[in-house]
Amino acid sequence: MIIKNKDLLCSKAIIGDWCNAFDKSTFNIMNPATNESIGTLPNMGEHETIKAIEIANEAFQMWKNQTVDFRSNILRSWAELIRENKDDLAVIMTMEQGKTIKESIGEIVYSASFLDWYAEEAQRPIGRMMPAHQTDQKILITHEPLGVGATITPWNFPALMVMREVAPALAAGCTVVIKPSELTPLTPLALVKLAIDAGLPLGVLSVITGDKKNTPKIGDVLTSHLKINKISFTGSTATGIMLAKKAMESVKKMSLELGGNAPFIVFDDADIDAALTGLISSKYRNSGQACVATNRVFIQKGIYNDFIVKFIKKVELLKVGNGLDADVDMGPLISIEASENMENYIKDSLLKGGELLTGGKRHKLGKSFFEPTVIANASDEMMPCQCEIFGPLTMIQKFDSEEEVIKLANNSIHGLAAYFYSNDRKRSWRVSEALKAGIIGENTVSFSTPRAPFGGYKQSGIGRNGGSEGLVEWQEVKYRCIGDLN
Ligand code: SIN
Repeated sequence: MIIKNKDLLCSKAIIGDWCNAFDKSTFNIMNPATNESIGTLPNMGEHETIKAIEIANEAFQMWKNQTVDFRSNILRSWAELIRENKDDLAVIMTMEQGKTIKESIGEIVYSASFLDWYAEEAQRPIGRMMPAHQTDQKILITHEPLGVGATITPWNFPALMVMREVAPALAAGCTVVIKPSELTPLTPLALVKLAIDAGLPLGVLSVITGDKKNTPKIGDVLTSHLKINKISFTGSTATGIMLAKKAMESVKKMSLELGGNAPFIVFDDADIDAALTGLISSKYRNSGQACVATNRVFIQKGIYNDFIVKFIKKVELLKVGNGLDADVDMGPLISIEASENMENYIKDSLLKGGELLTGGKRHKLGKSFFEPTVIANASDEMMPCQCEIFGPLTMIQKFDSEEEVIKLANNSIHGLAAYFYSNDRKRSWRVSEALKAGIIGENTVSFSTPRAPFGGYKQSGIGRNGGSEGLVEWQEVKYRCIGDLN
C-alpha cells in the first residue's frame, strides 16, 4: 500500500510552525510488523517544550477571542480533510502501530466525528442566570476556556486519543501542546498538518516529538510549567499517578483516562451468538491493546461448555499478520517487550492452575506477533486477572450466581468498562447498577461515540472525554455576583 499524499508523512515537529529539535537530533519510528524504520522525527526535550508552551499561551489570547462560528468552521473543515485523506492516514497508522488497515480506517473516520460533534456542542449555552439572594443583585454563572492545555497521548489509538482531547479543547477556545507517544507520533503529526491546511492558526496546536529517554523530561516541563492550566493523559495507572502528583504541585486541572480490567459476563439467559461476537471484538480488536478491552471473562455454568467450544472455534479462525494485508484480523503487538509480557502472563496463569485451550506462544511470524490465546480455570491470583493485559489473551472463569459474579467483576482497583449479556430485563437493571465501572456495555460492546462521556471509576481515572462532560473539562466556571442594581 502506498501513501498518495506524501506530505502527510512528516519529518518535523510543530512548535508554532514546522521545526527540528534545537540540537538537530532525531529518532526513528519503527514498524512493529517488520521492525524496520519508517521515518525519523526531531528528538526534542525541555527547551522545545518551554517554547511550545510560550507559543500556545500567545495563541490562546487570539483563539479564545474568536467567534464560536470561526472555531467551529475550522473544526468542520478539518474533519472533512481527515475523511478525504483517510486511506493515507490509515496506512501511516498501520505502519507505526500495527493494527489492521480496516481498524485504522475505522479509527480515522471515528476520530473526525469528534470534530463534527464538538463543532456543534460549542454552540450550546455557556452559562446560566440564577435568582439572586438580594433584591439589588444578579447572579451569573459562566463557562470560560481554561487556557493552555497539554495532552499526553498513548500509542494504542494514535488518532482517537488525540482527537478526544483536542476537539473539545479547541471548541472551548483553548490551545493545546500535544505530546504523542514516541512509538506513534506520525499519525498525530499528519492530523495536525491537516488542521493547519483547514485554516487552524499556527500556534493553536503544537506537537512535540521525543524518544523514550526524552519523554519524561518533556512530561516534567508540561506538568510543572505555570502557563499550563490542564494536563490530560491517557495511559497506564502508574504513569497517571506519577504525572498527577507532579501536576498537583501547581494545582493543574486534570483529566486522566487510565488502565482498565474489564469484566465480560455471560449469563445463562443470554443470546450466546451475540455474546460470542461481542467477546471476539472486545478482546481481539487492536490485538487486545485497548483500555476497554475485555480482561476477565465470566461464563455462567449452564452455558459454559457450549460457549467455550464455540468461542475456541471463532478464536482459531482469526488470521494474524501484517496489518497492511487486507485479509488480516489481528496485527502484531506494539513491541517485542509486549510479547514477552504475554509470555510471562501465560506462564504465571498455567503455574497457578490455568488450562490452556488455544494459542499460548509467539506466532510463527515471529517478532511481536502473538497467537490469539485462551486460558480457562482463571482465578484472581493470576497476574493477567489483576492487571491490564494489553494483548490477545482471554482469561475465562465459570460462575454460579449473579451475586458471586458481581463480587468477582468488581474485585479490581480499576473500573473503566464492564460488559454483560443477559436477556432478563430485571437482572440487567440490577447488574448495570451493581457494576463499578464508568462505562457499561449491556448486550453490546460498541459503546464508543463522541456523544457519550468516556472515563472510569476508581483508579481508572479522573474526568470524562466525550459528551457535554468532555467540553466542561476544558472550561473554568465563573460565578459573577453583580450588586448595587436598585
Ligand atoms: C480505549 O480503549 O481507550 C478506547 C477504545 C474506544 O473508545 O473504542
